[in-house]
Amino acid sequence: MKYIFHLDLDAFFASVEEAKNPKLKSKPVVISSHSMNSVISTANYVARKKGIKSAMPIFKAKQLCPELIIVPLDFHSYEEYSIKFINILKEKFTNQIEICSIDECYMDVNKILSKYKNDPIFLAKKIQQKISTALNITVSVGIGYNKFTAKMATDINKPNGVTVINDENYKQILWPMDIGQMFFVGKKTAEKLKEININTIGDLAQYSDLDKLKSVLNKNWLEYHQHANGLGNDQLDYSKNVPKSLSVSRTFLSPTSNEIEIINEIKTLTIELFEKLKYHNLSAKTYGIHYKDINRNSFTKNMTLSKYICTYEDLLDNLIKLFEDIYSNQTWRLIGVNVSNLIQLETNEDNIFSFIKNDKKNENKIDDIIKIINEKFEQNLVFIAKKKLQ
Ligand code: TTP
Ligand code: MG
Repeated sequence: MKYIFHLDLDAFFASVEEAKNPKLKSKPVVISSHSMNSVISTANYVARKKGIKSAMPIFKAKQLCPELIIVPLDFHSYEEYSIKFINILKEKFTNQIEICSIDECYMDVNKILSKYKNDPIFLAKKIQQKISTALNITVSVGIGYNKFTAKMATDINKPNGVTVINDENYKQILWPMDIGQMFFVGKKTAEKLKEININTIGDLAQYSDLDKLKSVLNKNWLEYHQHANGLGNDQLDYSKNVPKSLSVSRTFLSPTSNEIEIINEIKTLTIELFEKLKYHNLSAKTYGIHYKDINRNSFTKNMTLSKYICTYEDLLDNLIKLFEDIYSNQTWRLIGVNVSNLIQLETNEDNIFSFIKNDKKNENKIDDIIKIINEKFEQNLVFIAKKKLQ
């Protein structure tokens, strides 16, 4: 059986606030703007026990729990924790991850399972421990054999739960569930399905009037019907993970034509840009400078290299050269540096030859290394499997 994990951080925004301020942990907490007219983004599990949940107006939550603590939104922290969460998974476990939202992702764990006694529950608990030790927040793990079953499993034992849905228990677990609990089925669709007597996921799975089903669910009917029967896509989509470009910029306190001042700013911005690349585990082939002149006109100049930039020094050298090419004593109001043409860097489970994929020229270097090793041991110990097969 193929194993797909779905991970969802528990009461995410509230958990981040608790990690930042542990005194909040045992208290009922919601995250929202302070106005009594606003709605709740999320509630911690102490507040949820009192019936408080996402999208509830603050005034209503206050009625349910007068001692409720309202913490204002801090998106910068949530983004930071979200990136750290994904990076821990990539560095310590696998880079076969599809990010679905700020606090959710799928993992294809099949290549790494042998390192964890071939036991998906053991692996899930290791992941939970790592996240909790590093970030002081908890994550629930759904283990399925495709994306749908994994996603459905995650919500069953929250918080800090691990739930397995396999081809033996899916009917027992999924079929009694209300149709409104099925992934992708919104409130309106659930109402329409209930009108034709589909009240549970099991009812949908066994519904035989497919024409009627088509008329209610339109083009999605087959996918919904297959999901209800435990079938679904087990391939992760990695393309969504890689941003197209990254950039940082700064407006000068007062517009400047001082070359040293501009270069110093480029150095600072390049540190920030390189940090962003590291955060996302990316490397770039294209780099550029953008700026605004004294009249607020914008300019951009990009350059593309034949290989990916690996170090901060590399990036900075190229940006400074580019600056020297384009600068001719104008007065600049804003300066920015950017990178595009990005690729995801490989992580631990890839083999030492994985960089062949990025640079064909390296293949010769690898041949040299292999030759040296084989000569040293006087036998053909090392070879590239792909070549052996040719
Ligand atoms: P969710 O993962 O849906 O919720 P959660 O992490 O707070 O709780 P759970 O333990 O059930 O997973 O959403 C992630 C974050 O997205 C959540 O912490 C806050 C934000 N959010 C909103 O701002 N408004 C909403 O209506 C929902 C559902 C979430
Ligand atoms: Mg969550």
